[in-house]
Amino acid sequence: MNAVTIDGPAASGKSSVGYEAARRLDFLFFDTGILYRAVTWAVLQQGISVADSEAVGQVAEQTSIDITAPTRDHRDGRQVTVAIGDNDITWAVRTPHVDQNVSIVAANRLVRQALGEQQRSIGLRHGSGAGGKSGIVMVGRDIGTIVLPEAPLKIYLDAPVDERARRRQQELAARGKETDIARVLADMQQRDEVDSERAIAPLRPADDAHQIQTLGLSIPQVVDKIIALAQTHLEVGPATPLDQTAPRGGGAAPH
Ligand code: DC
Repeated sequence: MNAVTIDGPAASGKSSVGYEAARRLDFLFFDTGILYRAVTWAVLQQGISVADSEAVGQVAEQTSIDITAPTRDHRDGRQVTVAIGDNDITWAVRTPHVDQNVSIVAANRLVRQALGEQQRSIGLRHGSGAGGKSGIVMVGRDIGTIVLPEAPLKIYLDAPVDERARRRQQELAARGKETDIARVLADMQQRDEVDSERAIAPLRPADDAHQIQTLGLSIPQVVDKIIALAQTHLEVGPATPLDQTAPRGGGAAPH
């Protein structure tokens, strides 16, 4: 099986690193946090309280989330397009309002059941090469521990919380949203706490995960470490060297 799982806390670099690693390995990239964000957006949009577990669970079961490759019209740095019905919610799922509510939704048992099954079947299909690409890079919180524990290469990315808050603030600023660093830090600490202490599928490294501290490392440096591990743990040929690759087409945000 050609599957790489990348777990870690918010803004540890998972999606920037995962996206680039997938591109170099020519694997499918799947950021599972998008699904929790999309359900949160739908819940807020419908005026449902995130504390209403049953109603939130129903939204997760009934909402069909479309994730597609960006078209030429979308040159705004997106990695994928996220839609529910006719609504393009690619950026709506990245607002502070969704940030503040998503970890409550992600701790909901019914939500995890509905989304976890979808993630596992996507991981198995693409990890076995049956989905068009020769493998998959899956990013989240519980991918190595719960969703795809049989993946041959598991990564856990981490960085100190103040560094992660700084990255998130920069990412918001790049999209024209000025925010107060103290507020970003407080939100992030609260989200980390809910994600790590929830009863179901809490954030933690798998026993056999390779842990990488990203403080002081650039995205290409972290990707290089993962590519080196992929060459010993997966069935892959030599990866595309960084300097021969096409431009990434915009700043993919760390999540
Ligand atoms: O990675 P992110 O910030 O986009 O994730 C959004 C939320 O979803 C975050 O609170 C953690 C949660 N999540 C999860 O519980 N399990 C996953 N596999 C992915 C994300």
